[in-house]
Amino acid sequence: MKQIVGWKCLLLILNCLKTVTCAKEQQPNIVLVVADDYGYRDIGYHGAEFATPTLNKLAAEGVKLENYYVQPICSPTRSQLMTGRYQIHTGLQHDIIWPSQPNGLPLQFPTIADLLKSVGYSTHAIGKWHLGFYKKEYTPLYRGFDSFYGYWEGGEDYYTYYHCDSFHNRSTPTDMRILQGYTNEDILSGKYADKKTWCGYDLRDMSEPVTNMNGTYSTHLYTKRAIDVINRSKNAGKPFFLYLAYQAVHAPMEVPAEYTKPYAFIKNKNRRIYAGMVSAMDEGVRNVTEALKSTGLWNNTVFIFTTDNGGQVHAGGNNWPLRGLKHTLWEGGVRGIGFVTGPLVQQQGKVSEELMHVSDWFPTIAEAVGVQINGTLKLDGQSQWQMISKGSLGSRKEILHNIDIWTPLKGKMLYNDTFDTRVRAAIRVGDFKLVTGHPGDDTWYPPPHLGNPKVAKTDSTKNCWLFNVKLDPTESSDLSDTRPDLVQELLNRLVIYNSTAVPPLYPQSDPNCDPKLHGGFWGPWE
Ligand SMILES: *[C@@H]1O[C@H](CO)[C@@H](O)[C@H](O)[C@H]1NC(C)=O
Ligand SMILES: *[C@@H]1O[C@H](CO)[C@@H](O)[C@H](O)[C@H]1NC(C)=O
Ligand SMILES: *[C@@H]1O[C@H](CO)[C@@H](O)[C@H](O)[C@H]1NC(C)=O
Ligand SMILES: *[C@@H]1O[C@H](CO)[C@@H](O)[C@H](O)[C@H]1NC(C)=O
Ligand SMILES: *[C@@H]1O[C@H](CO)[C@@H](O)[C@H](O)[C@H]1NC(C)=O
Ligand SMILES: *[C@@H]1O[C@H](CO)[C@@H](O)[C@H](O)[C@H]1NC(C)=O
Ligand SMILES: *[C@@H]1O[C@H](CO)[C@@H](O)[C@H](O)[C@H]1NC(C)=O
Ligand SMILES: *[C@@H]1O[C@H](CO)[C@@H](O)[C@H](O)[C@H]1NC(C)=O
Repeated sequence: MKQIVGWKCLLLILNCLKTVTCAKEQQPNIVLVVADDYGYRDIGYHGAEFATPTLNKLAAEGVKLENYYVQPICSPTRSQLMTGRYQIHTGLQHDIIWPSQPNGLPLQFPTIADLLKSVGYSTHAIGKWHLGFYKKEYTPLYRGFDSFYGYWEGGEDYYTYYHCDSFHNRSTPTDMRILQGYTNEDILSGKYADKKTWCGYDLRDMSEPVTNMNGTYSTHLYTKRAIDVINRSKNAGKPFFLYLAYQAVHAPMEVPAEYTKPYAFIKNKNRRIYAGMVSAMDEGVRNVTEALKSTGLWNNTVFIFTTDNGGQVHAGGNNWPLRGLKHTLWEGGVRGIGFVTGPLVQQQGKVSEELMHVSDWFPTIAEAVGVQINGTLKLDGQSQWQMISKGSLGSRKEILHNIDIWTPLKGKMLYNDTFDTRVRAAIRVGDFKLVTGHPGDDTWYPPPHLGNPKVAKTDSTKNCWLFNVKLDPTESSDLSDTRPDLVQELLNRLVIYNSTAVPPLYPQSDPNCDPKLHGGFWGPWE
């Protein structure tokens, strides 16, 4: 309760700032588009074998973020994007938020929507939420958004909006299944006995269940809602924040047949469907930007595009030439696609090599709209607005990729007087990256047309790697034996971060989540 009062005070402070900034011309609109499980290789300008004309053009007109990092899975990335805080500081450092768990992004952390709303923005979320819903207070309308249209959990059928979940507790998260010898592919194909314990629909307009959209593909549905928001914002007299979190291009592999027609040359079925899913999303982004232009709003809009994590190679995605995939702490899991575009970005056609992280969006957007948050919020993110809009040097030198004390320990402790290398963690300092514990599948997966994966020959007990990511972005050359001094230095940084961590939140599934008890829909049960 104390903490909630704490951030209400913060909003009061921000409201005061609003009166200062209101006198100026209207603040820019912010459109933030998030693609789901969109791999590093899966955009035209990174060499995808399919077309992304809209994304290519938008990125080419703005700033491509080519040294940009996200988190390896959904809820963690979205939590950092929304709050500007590392997971070790919110409790979401272990796995995602499963629909059956009584869990959510803790309420004491204001979101970027809270901040923008407090300075006079209208705020709209469309698509995927995935930051908790077991109590209504965790849902978007209570987290700073004036409107919401989409789904509260993490994945579902693209046409029926139906999804099942099984039991989860600390002994059954995805990483554990992988440790038990199942591959991601087994889990996706159902070979892992994923009991469909609880099933229901998940599509909401504001907070109300939507029942009449069965059969409409979600990329079309969310695009239409986004255009609706844009149309309504035209004469609203205030700036808007549109958070458009597409379901695309996460599994299941579904897309209207017309979108896969150009891709008959792609022999791998998942990859072919994925190419179609990406094309539909690219078209959706085209429609959204055309609506911004035809309403005249584009001139005063900052348009941001980001993925939420690396590609899921077993569901059509790809991160080649990077090592690893979604879920893992290798570059294939965390190095993301991102760009910022629109007339307010003063450098067009720029490729930025400055280090940036998904936690930076909160302070970056704050600076873009003229809100000073220094001194009022203790964020892990750093504003990159000067870097993006004017080409200044970035301020970030370091990224804590994560520390997860709950992934089972791996191997032997290598040093007695610093961070325990058995613990799953990764950190980037300057050009160097240290990985410890069990980082996940480290195979290099080329797209199917380029041949077979190269399996990394790592000792199953090995638990410490050091790379110069600038010189060796594919993490091919482990330096941990030749540079023990650097290993020690980065382990010491992990000790410092770890000392600031809060305990992970990962409650056991609650049978009261059962949609059968709530009219067939996933929804609050407490
Ligand atoms: C997780 O659930 C399993 C199966 O119900 C149970 O055996 C185990 O004790 C639980 N573990 C924890 C940490 O609660
Ligand atoms: C949605 O459509 C599918 C396929 O046509 C059908 O099997 C399912 O029963 C429908 N669901 C509802 C809730 O109408
Ligand atoms: C948005 O406005 C345009 C122009 O008035 C109109 O053609 C279009 O149907 C509207 N779209 C939505 C989704 O409201
Ligand atoms: C984009 O707009 C066109 C023309 O209105 C429409 O046919 C198409 O379905 C839209 N695509 C998406 C993804 O919404
Ligand atoms: C938006 O920008 C275009 C191109 O620079 C310009 O022609 C137009 O007048 C601007 N519109 C507004 C409303 O500022
Ligand atoms: C924030 O930074 C600005 C510019 O550096 C400074 O003028 C202002 O006093 C700072 N505000 C707080 C609350 O620290
Ligand atoms: C760590 O401590 C153990 C037990 O005291 C000792 O056997 C081992 O040699 C030490 N390892 C290192 C790397 O110092
Ligand atoms: C991290 O911090 C936790 C909680 O303070 C502590 O129990 C644990 O030993 C630390 N782990 C490492 C590897 O330093």
